[in-house]
Amino acid sequence: MRTQVAIVGGGPSGLLLGRLLARRGVDTVVLERRPREHVLGRVRAGVLERGLVALLREAGVAARLDAEGMAHHGAILTRDGERLRIDFAAQGCGPVTVYGQTEVTRDLYAARDADGAPTVHGAEDVAIHDPQGEPSVTWREGGAERRLSCDFVAGCDGFHGISRRAIPEGVRREYEKTYPFGWMGILARTPPVADELVYASSERGFALCSMRSHDVSRHYVQCPSSDAPEDWPDDRFWEELRRRLPPDLADGLVAGPSFEKSVAPLRSFVCEPMRWGRLFLCGDAAHIVPPTGAKGLNTAASDVRYLFDALRAHYEDGDDSGLDAYSERALARVWKVERFSWWMTRLLHRFPGEEPFDARMQAAEFAHLRDDPAAQASLAAAYVGLPY
Ligand code: APR
Ligand code: PHB
Repeated sequence: MRTQVAIVGGGPSGLLLGRLLARRGVDTVVLERRPREHVLGRVRAGVLERGLVALLREAGVAARLDAEGMAHHGAILTRDGERLRIDFAAQGCGPVTVYGQTEVTRDLYAARDADGAPTVHGAEDVAIHDPQGEPSVTWREGGAERRLSCDFVAGCDGFHGISRRAIPEGVRREYEKTYPFGWMGILARTPPVADELVYASSERGFALCSMRSHDVSRHYVQCPSSDAPEDWPDDRFWEELRRRLPPDLADGLVAGPSFEKSVAPLRSFVCEPMRWGRLFLCGDAAHIVPPTGAKGLNTAASDVRYLFDALRAHYEDGDDSGLDAYSERALARVWKVERFSWWMTRLLHRFPGEEPFDARMQAAEFAHLRDDPAAQASLAAAYVGLPY
């Protein structure tokens, strides 16, 4: 088999790249290890930057997003009962759109099916060969060994994928920070606690009140990394969430049975470079952010933007300058988003065993944000999305 771009991983990065290329007549094959139902069963964040919304429109997959997505023009931060609204419009920033990442992925699969573009589910032992020369990808499928030769490989296989490891160890540099806590998250058919997202810092730890629609809420509480969903029966979750919110918001909190519950670790991670010969990494394969800034999918999308533009210039104009600049360009934005996500995480969580000085610095950071419009403008610009 032969294709132009072999895409390893059928998550949002791989599917979005594949769809954009299909619209320009470039052939792709997506190799995904898991069944489609598994990919669509993963619940993830749901805040889309404007750049991603524009990219989804350009890809022709935004009909449902445009009908069902909710524009948010601000976000609420609280600390020990005090409330601060970051007004995006007042800071000269456009809105973000609240729409579940799982729904983005579902829309992309529907488009890929409509394009008749090939997707292999259950691709096992995927391996990337000769990325510096004539690249190919092999895998096992139902016991048979398969091979696909290609012009380029897009490594879109997430944090646990194999693509990153095709960059030799002597070349690859990885930067990682793990945080000493996780997020316990639930989905429930209850109304959101406010019209906007609430990021709450309290003595008992961080909590986030988000939503998927006007009648489905998505909430998180900071918890020990070792906690499992079984440790958090619904009653305990709602009670803990209530205690971390300012009284007026806590009073309006409507509890109800959860229909999804999971614990996510918090990690910052970057792999450099993001290109090795004809192999290009996109999304979680190259970088992870803690979810506090809602940047995971959005940063995957900025990689896809750069890589798509570079591949289009290669195929349509014979211009490889975008491919040559890809790693540097993508990483420049990635590191800024890493900074923002790390800063938001530090601002809002309680760190076990923290020095009293650091606790005071956190309080001072919040006061600075409250009192300095320039600090709010900086937060707003990063939250709604840095330019590509
Ligand atoms: N071979 C083939 N597919 C693989 C392999 C492999 N060895 N390893 C992983 N995959 C698949 C996974 O099953 C998954 O479907 O690659 C896909 C990667 O998808 P994501 O992890 O969703 O990563 P990405 O598409 O880059 O999307 C980034 O997802 O994790 C969130 O916060 C993150 O929102 C961000 C977004
Ligand atoms: C979510 O809705 O799941 C969500 C929203 C904002 C975040 C993280 C997660 O920062």
